[in-house]
Amino acid sequence: MTLLGNERLVLDSSSNHVGKLSGLGVRIASVAHELNSPLSMITGSLDLLGKYVDALAHYAEAAGGSRSRSELQRLHEQLRIDYVVANVLPLLDICREGGERLGYLIQQLRLYGRRDGDIDSQAIQVADLMVDVVREACAGRSPDARVQVDPVDARVHGEPVALQRAFVNLITNGLDAVAGVPKGRVWFTASVDDSTQQIRISVQDNGPGVQAELRGRIFEPFFSTKPGSSGMGLGLAIVREIIESHHGTVHLCDTPVGAHFLTTLPRVD
Ligand SMILES: Nc1ncnc2c1ncn2[C@@H]1O[C@H](COP(=O)(O)OP(=O)(O)O)[C@@H](O)[C@H]1O
Ligand SMILES: [Mg+2]
Repeated sequence: MTLLGNERLVLDSSSNHVGKLSGLGVRIASVAHELNSPLSMITGSLDLLGKYVDALAHYAEAAGGSRSRSELQRLHEQLRIDYVVANVLPLLDICREGGERLGYLIQQLRLYGRRDGDIDSQAIQVADLMVDVVREACAGRSPDARVQVDPVDARVHGEPVALQRAFVNLITNGLDAVAGVPKGRVWFTASVDDSTQQIRISVQDNGPGVQAELRGRIFEPFFSTKPGSSGMGLGLAIVREIIESHHGTVHLCDTPVGAHFLTTLPRVD
């Protein structure tokens, strides 16, 4: 499969803006769009690591001075030194993972046009995939970003990084939709339909939802209702491309509250 090959979508679209872009143009725009998420994994973690280093330096300086044991103990608690120490290595892991994703995207660009670019397909445990997705989608978000995960123990065949990209996009849209919504939540749930052997993966939120007149357009490349440069309008086009190339489907369901995107993917043993 080609992860970011939206050429077909360009041909399907009647939008002038899209029509003017070559396949390569769309691919470059897609890569630019996709670079954001791993990049914010890295920058968000580095911001926190910077604060942690400040706290540790502050504490080390105090410990080398003439403070009493109880004063130092208080400072230890105030600066949450135990918490800081416990979080340094996980944050470095997130940075490393973000770097690997950036490397993967760059590799995708380098493989552009090569027929043997279809690599890395394997059986993927859906529960693991979902955990990785949430970790990436929430990195760099405010701590009150809430995603509730209800995974399923089942496997799908495909490219792990590509599938992760698809679901990170859906969760990111959900988190954008509930930003500022009191008790805003995103539910990321999966189940197996035993009769069809399809895995159903839902991303549902309690944000404002999609207006009826826009429902037919949201999967178009470059369609976005987000202000200014905050939305490139490529997320859902990329989601559809990736899911369909994995022999699955994705669509927006009717729901009384918020938005509900339902994805199905074939189960494998
Ligand atoms: N969870 C959601 N709730 C409400 N609207 C949504 C949601 N997901 C997508 N949309 C709508 O679909 C549009 C296209 O989404 P997308 O392709 O990801 O582009 P972008 O996020 O850059 O705007 C969004 O601008 C928004 O109008
Ligand atoms: Mg989006």
